Amino acid sequence: MAENGIRVTHLQKTFGRGENAVEVIRDASFTVQRGELAALIAPSGAGKSTLLMMIGCVLEPSGGEIMLGEKMVYQNRWLHPDSRKLRREKIGFIFQAHYLIPFLNILENITLLPQTNGQTRAAAEQYARELLQYLGIEDKAHAMPSDLSGGQNQRVAIARALATHPEIILADEPTAALDIERAHSVVQLLRQIAKERQVAIIMVTHDQRLLPYCDKILEIQDGRVETSPVEPLLP
Ligand SMILES: Nc1ncnc2c1ncn2[C@@H]1O[C@H](COP(=O)(O)OP(=O)(O)OP(=O)(O)O)[C@@H](O)[C@H]1O
Ligand SMILES: [Mg+2]
Repeated sequence: MAENGIRVTHLQKTFGRGENAVEVIRDASFTVQRGELAALIAPSGAGKSTLLMMIGCVLEPSGGEIMLGEKMVYQNRWLHPDSRKLRREKIGFIFQAHYLIPFLNILENITLLPQTNGQTRAAAEQYARELLQYLGIEDKAHAMPSDLSGGQNQRVAIARALATHPEIILADEPTAALDIERAHSVVQLLRQIAKERQVAIIMVTHDQRLLPYCDKILEIQDGRVETSPVEPLLP
């Protein structure tokens, strides 16, 4: 990938047609470099999830451009022939709900995609255990999702998103189900992953206390994205 992790140019999204048309994203342009953790903030209904889903090649924009690394993936239409493969290999998603597979244990949930992408089971399991340890739930490797609390499952979902070594991570309120102490440690982990692995990360958050960990703030205002820098408190 080139130095840009994510580059969005004049992106638009309108839901519905005619009288019912709702223009949620009017004209969004911004970049998130590899190595950067960006916070995406805006009131409820402003279009944060809509924006992430477009960048993640899940939701089709109404116009504009999306570049992921050196690949132009959308330019008034999808340009990539296999968006599922692109998603699976390059992008890690973390949602508000964890979406773990209920009949697979924690380790199996985390190692499923890395193995689909061609990693050996041993390598996938070793990295999964490292992630579980960092997240403080290494003792849950063989538990089922139904045995874990909401916050614990959310941490598993974070481990799963990181497990494929993605170049881009899109996190939609990953800390919503966590207490503040755990939320701090999760955002610190995301920051560390961004720096060490040169990942471009966008994280939706409503929590002002987490902003100092981020490199920049993307704020949706009236369908446009304003970018502002953050002076990080931490090295
Ligand atoms: N499939 C859809 N069809 C029509 N309107 C939609 C659709 N998806 C989202 N919207 C509308 O787009 C707007 C933005 O929704 P979005 O979910 O992106 O907001 P958000 O910023 O993520 O809010 P929250 O903080 O509550 O998660 C809302 O007004 C919503 O009703
Ligand atoms: Mg949302």
